[in-house]
Amino acid sequence: MARRKKIYEGKAKIIYEGPEPGTIVQYFKDDATAFNAEKKDVIEGKGVLNNRLSEFFMMGLNNVGVPTHFLKRLNMREQLCRSCEIIPLEIIVRNYAAGSMSKRLGIEEGTQLPRPIVEYCYKDDKLGDPLVSEEHIAAFGWASQHDMDDIVALALRVNDFMSGIMFGVGIKLIDFKIEIGRVYDGDFQRLVVADEISPDSCRLWDIETGEKLDKDVFRRDLGNLADAYTEVARRLGVMPKQAPQPTKPTLIN
Ligand code: TMP
Repeated sequence: MARRKKIYEGKAKIIYEGPEPGTIVQYFKDDATAFNAEKKDVIEGKGVLNNRLSEFFMMGLNNVGVPTHFLKRLNMREQLCRSCEIIPLEIIVRNYAAGSMSKRLGIEEGTQLPRPIVEYCYKDDKLGDPLVSEEHIAAFGWASQHDMDDIVALALRVNDFMSGIMFGVGIKLIDFKIEIGRVYDGDFQRLVVADEISPDSCRLWDIETGEKLDKDVFRRDLGNLADAYTEVARRLGVMPKQAPQPTKPTLIN
């Protein structure tokens, strides 16, 4: 019996070595953080919900031909993914002004943008993930121009897919963040959607009432975060069969 080897622990997930070469296991924690971990809490059941929801979105993307790192869900809190080299950027797509864009540009939250706007932040917690331009990305070699063309195309396809899915259940996709990884098939490299897609990384507003169903509920103390995520899961028909329970990472071999 060997314990899974931990590769990395982030704020919301732990990454373990997977059972086969070229795979990893993502373990979804119940920890919630905001403002670069200045605000922290443990929200019971969040990890279970995000594991399910991220599976649902990633499988949907795989099925419509948008490549992701997701392979399969293993249990309530863990999923098997292809290992990839994460490009050190947070790719943000915005359909309506909110959050940092509203602050930065003085646009009222909820204002529809003339077209989806793609932004990039450099992934560095010490620096607070600063906004960067394609010039920085090219000059510092974080991604090539060819990668950037692929990244924008992937981000906009994710936006179309996620907007449609959400619209179908009465939710407006205000904005979201994705991460992109490189996978290697022999000498051939391609880009895939990696990390997670969940209400932690999207802004989701009820179309009728404007109620927030995403991590802003936690960031802004608007109510119970697990209830908001459960509502998203319920509308999408993605309900855990059992009530969320704290589980430890499983053993393999
Ligand atoms: P922002 O308006 O705070 O820049 O956030 C834009 C989107 O990115 C929003 O859907 C929340 C998501 N996001 C993350 O997933 N991780 C983060 O660390 C931050 C700051 C935002």
